[in-house]
This record gives sequence, C-alpha cells and structure tokens, in this order.
Amino acid sequence: MPRLNVNIDHVATVRQARGGIEPDPVFAAYLAELAGANGIVVHLREDRRHIQDRDLRILRQTVKTKLNLEIAPTREMMEIALEVKPDMVTLVPEKRQEITTEGGLDVLANTKQLLRVVGDLKGKGLFVSLFIDPDIKQIKSAKVTKADMLEIHTGGYTEAKIYDKREKEFKKIEEAVKTTLEQGLKVAAGHGLNYINVKSISSIVGIEELNIGHSIIARSVFVGVERAVREMLELCK
Ligand code: PXP
Repeated sequence: MPRLNVNIDHVATVRQARGGIEPDPVFAAYLAELAGANGIVVHLREDRRHIQDRDLRILRQTVKTKLNLEIAPTREMMEIALEVKPDMVTLVPEKRQEITTEGGLDVLANTKQLLRVVGDLKGKGLFVSLFIDPDIKQIKSAKVTKADMLEIHTGGYTEAKIYDKREKEFKKIEEAVKTTLEQGLKVAAGHGLNYINVKSISSIVGIEELNIGHSIIARSVFVGVERAVREMLELCK
C-alpha cells in the first residue's frame, strides 16, 4: 500500500479568497494527520497564491509525520527550503499563468542546474524528489541529478477522457515506475488522483507514495477533512 501524503494548498486557496485567517491550512494538516495521513504537502509558489511563508514555518514546527515542500528550483525558493528544512523537497516546474503544475521538469534540458540544486539540498541533509512526466528519456536522465525519488506525473492518465487513451497513459505510468526503480530511485506519483482513479494507480507495485490534494480537499467541504482522508486511505489499500 503506498503512503498517502495530503496536499493542503487548497485550504489556503479558500483562505486567500478573502485574505483573512480562515480556514487555516495548519489546522487542516493536523486533522489530516489525525485521520492517518502519512505526510503533508505544500507548494510555496512564487506568487504566493495559496500557501504563505507563515504557513510553511508553522507547519515545520507542527507536522508530526513528514513535511514535503514543493518548490520551483529558483534561488528564492532554495534559500527558503535550506532555512526551513522540510523533511523532503519536491522540485517542480512553475509557470505564473498556470492553474496548477502543468507538466514535469525538463530534466534533459536542465540537467546541470538540477544537479547543482539537488546537490545543495542534499548537502543540507534534505531528501529530494523530482516531479517528472512518465517519459522514459526524462526518467533515465534524472539519475544524473542524484535525486532520491521521482514523482511520476499522473495527469495524462487522470485527465484522459477516452478509454483507449487512458489505457495508454496507464501503461506509460507502469513503464515509468519500472524504469525509475531500475535507475535505483524511489517512486512517488501524483496529480489529478481522486476517489475513482486512485485504486488503479495504487495497485502499481513499486509506488511508495501518493501525493493527493484537490480531490481530498474538495471532499472535505462536504464530509470534513478527517473523513475525506480516511476514505482515501481505504482506497489506497
Ligand atoms: N504532485 C505535484 C508535484 C503537484 O504539483 C500537485 C498539485 O499541487 C499534486 C501532486 C497534487 O495534485 P492534485 O491536487 O491534483 O491532487
């Protein structure tokens, strides 16, 4: 059974809609952990559209499981990560105009930069994961960066509307997991996972962790964070 890390960005999205103090993502993290979540994920974006620096600093003190900080590999974010020292850092590409992270890192085109960034983070004892498309060339090139883990982008699969395309995308993820393991790296997966599609992804042997945000927070609106997390944990089994 893969471990479940809950991304709480969208609790902050609701708070930022009014610029006030509630709902507090720190409280959501606490409830998610109480329900059995294995870790908490936050993405500190350059434009601070949801998670704020204050959230990250408090979560560093209060998260009792594992804090996974998603950042773009920029100087500003590196300085924050090295200071706050989350349990792990996931490097993601970031575009200002995107609604959410749209694709994986282009490791092939940015190998040198990523080697340096991963080296700096690992030098301070941080565990590093790279968010990457299920593309064999990209995955093979990721080993050079010395990252510990690859998070396979499941968006192609979760967004496929037609059965044939979905099957194709699923096979790509299976191949990506296999290749990542052959490179000696650990495997996580995430993006677009929900209460319907999570079963098939969690059945892929070798995936250690799932990072899920939107569907859990959306369900929390109706049933509360604890129940939403428990139900997802059940489906990951
Ligand atoms: N993994 C990464 C790297 C992400 O950027 C996101 C979105 O913040 C997720 C997982 C979670 O995706 P979703 O919110 O669709 O579950």
